[in-house]
Amino acid sequence: MTSFITFEGIEGSGKSTQVRLLADWIKSRFGEEPVLTREPGGCRISDQIRATLLDAANKGMDERAELLLYAAARAQHMAEIIQPALSTGKFVICDRFTDATLAYQGYGRGLSKELIEELNTLATCGVEPDLTFLLDFPPETGISRARSRNADSDGPNEDRFEQEEIAFHHRVRNGYLDLEKSAPRIHRIDATGSIEEVAARIRTVFSQFIEQRQAI
Ligand code: TMP
Repeated sequence: MTSFITFEGIEGSGKSTQVRLLADWIKSRFGEEPVLTREPGGCRISDQIRATLLDAANKGMDERAELLLYAAARAQHMAEIIQPALSTGKFVICDRFTDATLAYQGYGRGLSKELIEELNTLATCGVEPDLTFLLDFPPETGISRARSRNADSDGPNEDRFEQEEIAFHHRVRNGYLDLEKSAPRIHRIDATGSIEEVAARIRTVFSQFIEQRQAI
């Protein structure tokens, strides 16, 4: 059964952990290893674009250049990873996707929603997720969590967005909540509480989604 599932949320909302937990659970329940991927990134070319996008040294990046780089990374990722996996009937779980561009570049930076939607359609060939988990978390706590994680990491310096002022992250969060109102595939998950509590909320929604699919 093909299912394209995405996770969204502000930084530090616990997405990556929950992506892995859902993937493990799907594997134990359905005996199938989902394809786990992320944006920006997911393949070599898109990972190179990710490094440019998130490098804290690129403070001066023009917001239109930023938007186009996200679209370019997505087009490559779609062609190389997501579409081939969906066409062979796999579960695909992607950490961030098109809603992130609407939330960050649209609500966060103030770029045109219509323009972003057009670019999203170009990059995805119109493919949309079947189910989206929006992990909702207070921006103040999320950002301080993400900043300390970055400070402890030996990996590349990927904190260009974490350096944005808190008002930016509030706009992003409010943008996500707005998107949720207009798209029934988006399910807001309260991401406060323990990792296991949040995982249980996600599994409940996921199980309902699978039941509805099987009833069709
Ligand atoms: P990550 O830290 O969750 O991997 O996300 C990388 C950053 O990229 C995060 O700050 C959100 C941002 N982003 C956008 O601004 N627009 C997008 O379209 C995507 C996919 C991510």
